[in-house]
Amino acid sequence: MNTYPTTPDTIVGGATILRAGGLVAFPTETVYGLGADATQPKAVARLFKAKGRPSFNPLIIHVGEKDWVNDFSTPDSRFQQLSKTFWPGPLTLVLKQRDNSAIASLATAGLPSVAVRCPSHEIANVLLNTLGRPLAAPSANRSGSVSPTLATHVAESLGNTVDLIIDGGPCSVGIESTVLDLTRPKATILRPGAITLEQIRSSIGSVTMANGATKTPKSPGQMLSHYAPKLPLRLKAKTAETREALLGFGPTAAATLNLSDSGDLAEAAANLFAMLHLLDDPHRFKSIAVATIPETGLGIAINDRLRRAAFR
Ligand code: TXA
Ligand code: MG
Repeated sequence: MNTYPTTPDTIVGGATILRAGGLVAFPTETVYGLGADATQPKAVARLFKAKGRPSFNPLIIHVGEKDWVNDFSTPDSRFQQLSKTFWPGPLTLVLKQRDNSAIASLATAGLPSVAVRCPSHEIANVLLNTLGRPLAAPSANRSGSVSPTLATHVAESLGNTVDLIIDGGPCSVGIESTVLDLTRPKATILRPGAITLEQIRSSIGSVTMANGATKTPKSPGQMLSHYAPKLPLRLKAKTAETREALLGFGPTAAATLNLSDSGDLAEAAANLFAMLHLLDDPHRFKSIAVATIPETGLGIAINDRLRRAAFR
């Protein structure tokens, strides 16, 4: 595995590796993704193995342009409206898959549906359009661990199991895309993320939130324990105990690190995973205490990740 500074050649090289069935980690605006050509079953199988991901958990299919979706789905008017408003960007739409879909069935875990997103990060977009094929890309970390927002996080977590890591610096959003199910009449958020319920509602009118974390989630990836750091997490903390790190939000006395001094949720989302990676050090701390994050807007997605990270 090599990490190169990103030049147009790096991206062309990445597309060549992908076409040959290899695995390439690349930056998106949310988190780093680990990409495989979604039309090659063997490449997708390698991807599941590299992540240690259970094969019942389907992958998000990334497209370079909105009209690629027509190759594997027949999208409805809600898709047209949402993609017009939020694509390219951090919204994943779950659609019914059509007959003769080009997507490897392993990538969708054999489901009749397919989750699609068009990322806005320039490197991701150029990589997709150079390849000219959809990319199956989960977050570029071992299954269940903290998501990567820096190329070094990918290297630490996946090391030599990937063929190339394209370094695009820190991810600007820092938290995964919102997953919205459009396979039923009622649009349902399966995973809260960067695009909020209010934003979706203002685009298509009606939307609901799926019940929080459960043992048998509708979105197979929404397991109770996920994003798990090595150290235990304690939520809604005011102060740190002995040998505890304090991850603050807003003016927090004696915070070890602060998600946002000014209490800005977008800044907190962008810092969340990188700060968890930094504090998750058993040599320095016995646990991580996290200050209260308001349950509004982006705070809903942040608290979702924190609850899963805290679950043991
Ligand atoms: O921001 C993101 O979405 C990042 C970047 C790399 O694009 N990707 C990401 O992928 O977070 P991953 O694999 O870590 O999460 C995919 C989520 C899982 O919760 C999975 O269960 C859900 O999407 N999903 C995928 N296909 C689905 C489907 N057909 N029906 C329901 N949920 C699906
Ligand atoms: Mg993930």
